[in-house]
Amino acid sequence: MTYLDPAQLASPRPGPALALRGVSLTFGGVHALEDVDFEVSLHEVVALVGENAAGKSTLAKVLSGVYRPTAGVIVSDGVEVTIPSPSHATRLGIATVFQEQVLANNLDVASNMFLGHELNSKFVLHTEEMETAAAEVLEEIGARIPSVRYPVAHLSAGQRQSVAIARALLARPRIVILDEPTSSLSVTQTADILDLIVKMRSLGHGIILISHNLADVQAVADRVVVMRHGRVVGQAPMSQVTYEDIIAAITGATRTFPPQETPRASRVVGASAGE
Ligand SMILES: Nc1ncnc2c1ncn2[C@@H]1O[C@H](COP(=O)(O)OP(=O)(O)OP(=O)(O)O)[C@@H](O)[C@H]1O
Ligand SMILES: [Mg+2]
Repeated sequence: MTYLDPAQLASPRPGPALALRGVSLTFGGVHALEDVDFEVSLHEVVALVGENAAGKSTLAKVLSGVYRPTAGVIVSDGVEVTIPSPSHATRLGIATVFQEQVLANNLDVASNMFLGHELNSKFVLHTEEMETAAAEVLEEIGARIPSVRYPVAHLSAGQRQSVAIARALLARPRIVILDEPTSSLSVTQTADILDLIVKMRSLGHGIILISHNLADVQAVADRVVVMRHGRVVGQAPMSQVTYEDIIAAITGATRTFPPQETPRASRVVGASAGE
């Protein structure tokens, strides 16, 4: 049995797998999200970038069932849905590795991956079954973990991030949201996580990659969406914008993204990944 179900991910329906339409969310007086349109398809890595407090994690939390929007709609596979709780997100095939995700240091890899949703019957833990399932997912995404029985305290920061991602994949999600997955990693560890993201895309997942590291984003994303002050400034296929274009949009140096005055711009408006 494979825990990443190829049948589920092999034949995406036309249109985005998951979308926000006109979504707003206000915390007291703070407009964390304002009239946000956003979408992700299967087999696609969408980078979500922006300054601190731009609204990236809030967008992720709306899609994860942590926050409910104050306006707008969420569309999953063409159907309007609400995501009132994290378990609803799981049922819709949305898994998130949060920015502040922590693992239990005293537990091994397999136990961490199943923490809170252990396989058991009549109060007996199915340890072997969990270890096999954990190893399968880690192998499928090419994670470099020596053994599922290693305590996570013995793993590098990069390996721990791989375990956090593999944990999210156990639920066989269609969409995986990664909030700053490489922010505390070395160059080598970052490369491993980027490899893992590419592998996940090849397996069919749609991936939302939130990152401050534009080199990472440029290395793996098909499309980049820029947020500023709770709004989506614009989006473009990654191959058709430069590092400088993205920085200018993030900082507000340009009001349009992609920049309209360059020859590149005429090729990118409305285009989608893979075109
Ligand atoms: N639970 C909350 N209560 C009140 N305000 C919040 C809450 N969560 C987020 N905010 C506010 O919403 C805005 C967007 O925050 P968010 O965490 O989404 O930004 P971000 O783009 O993820 O930033 P960073 O790059 O620093 O992670 C910020 O002004 C933040 O202070
Ligand atoms: Mg954040």
